[in-house]
Amino acid sequence: MSPNLVRTPLFDSPVEHGKRHGVKPGMTDINEAVSALALATQQSALLRGALTSGFLAHCAGETSVEDLARVTGLGPGRVRDLCVALRAAGVLETDNPDRYRLSTTYAPMLNDGTGTHLANQLGGAAVRARLIEQMFTADGPDRYEDLADTDRAALAASVTLAPSTALARAAMQGVVGGIPAWNDLLAAGDVRYLELGCGLSGALLTMLQLYPRLTAVGVDLSADLLALAKVEAAALGVDDRVRYVIEDATAYTDPEPFDVVFWSQFFFPAATRVKALANAYERLRPGGLLIVPGLIPPGTSAAEPQTSLSVLLTQGWEIPALTTEELCTELTTAGFAGGTVHPSSFATAVVARRL
Ligand SMILES: C[S@@+](CC[C@H](N)C(=O)[O-])C[C@H]1O[C@@H](n2cnc3c(N)ncnc32)[C@H](O)[C@@H]1O
Repeated sequence: MSPNLVRTPLFDSPVEHGKRHGVKPGMTDINEAVSALALATQQSALLRGALTSGFLAHCAGETSVEDLARVTGLGPGRVRDLCVALRAAGVLETDNPDRYRLSTTYAPMLNDGTGTHLANQLGGAAVRARLIEQMFTADGPDRYEDLADTDRAALAASVTLAPSTALARAAMQGVVGGIPAWNDLLAAGDVRYLELGCGLSGALLTMLQLYPRLTAVGVDLSADLLALAKVEAAALGVDDRVRYVIEDATAYTDPEPFDVVFWSQFFFPAATRVKALANAYERLRPGGLLIVPGLIPPGTSAAEPQTSLSVLLTQGWEIPALTTEELCTELTTAGFAGGTVHPSSFATAVVARRL
């Protein structure tokens, strides 16, 4: 951007613009608040681009602008501008304007696939941002099934694990370890697992890598997500133990009972839930486990910033945003026994049993 453009009001921050145009003193706070929001949106895009392009992977050790330009194929001027912006965002550090390295805060991004996970979070947030804006229209947000394939995939990737990463395997071991009944089952031997609403099936694909005696069926209405899941299963070498079925989870049948059913409840609209739960019950063997992720972690107020937005969007899709207690009640009403809540750093799960 040329110095002239920087001075053009179009490119001003609200604070700078306010100062220059003699905005009333009372406007300073609102300008600062909105500037912070606008800046976060742009820096989030900057970080996502830096992660998904592989740019940041080249900044593990201190690197010169010239070397970065060579390995990324970008012009040195662009690389320098990107480095300055990434430094201003706290992602890069420098003692010399020609050399940059990842900051101490962001250095762990290069470990265990953390960067992939974070890029997925940011990709999902960008899709959610557009949907949240649509909440002010009478029609509400675009429905999940009507999203462009790339947007649906970005959203689905942001609610799961990136199964090729060490981070995913550690997170899944933490989840399973926190649910003794599930842990014992997986440790005992052959387990048949059904996921109703599997999406990209990041969690399932991670488990298949961890537990070689697990076999699974993933059911979803989104053919595009299942196609991506199949490719990932083959890449991970677990495709001989998972079958994907494009079908309504309320109607899927199987000649063999399952030991575990996982129900991705916070994607199931109110009108489908009783049937989905009845089918989960039907598909389980007596004593089999139903595992259900929670949307709102126990002890979290629905008024907290992130939770309030998750609730807004979920309910915009006519999906009830249930607390874990309400989920337990829903499961017992459907005939399941128990209903215990298991928080972990990745997700909170509610676990019940078929009688
Ligand atoms: C995003 S996935 C959940 C993530 C998954 N647990 C993972 O690890 O990747 C939730 C899915 O539920 C699916 N879904 C919602 N209602 C459904 C139904 N009636 N039948 C089948 N799938 C359904 C949606 O298509 C969506 O892809």
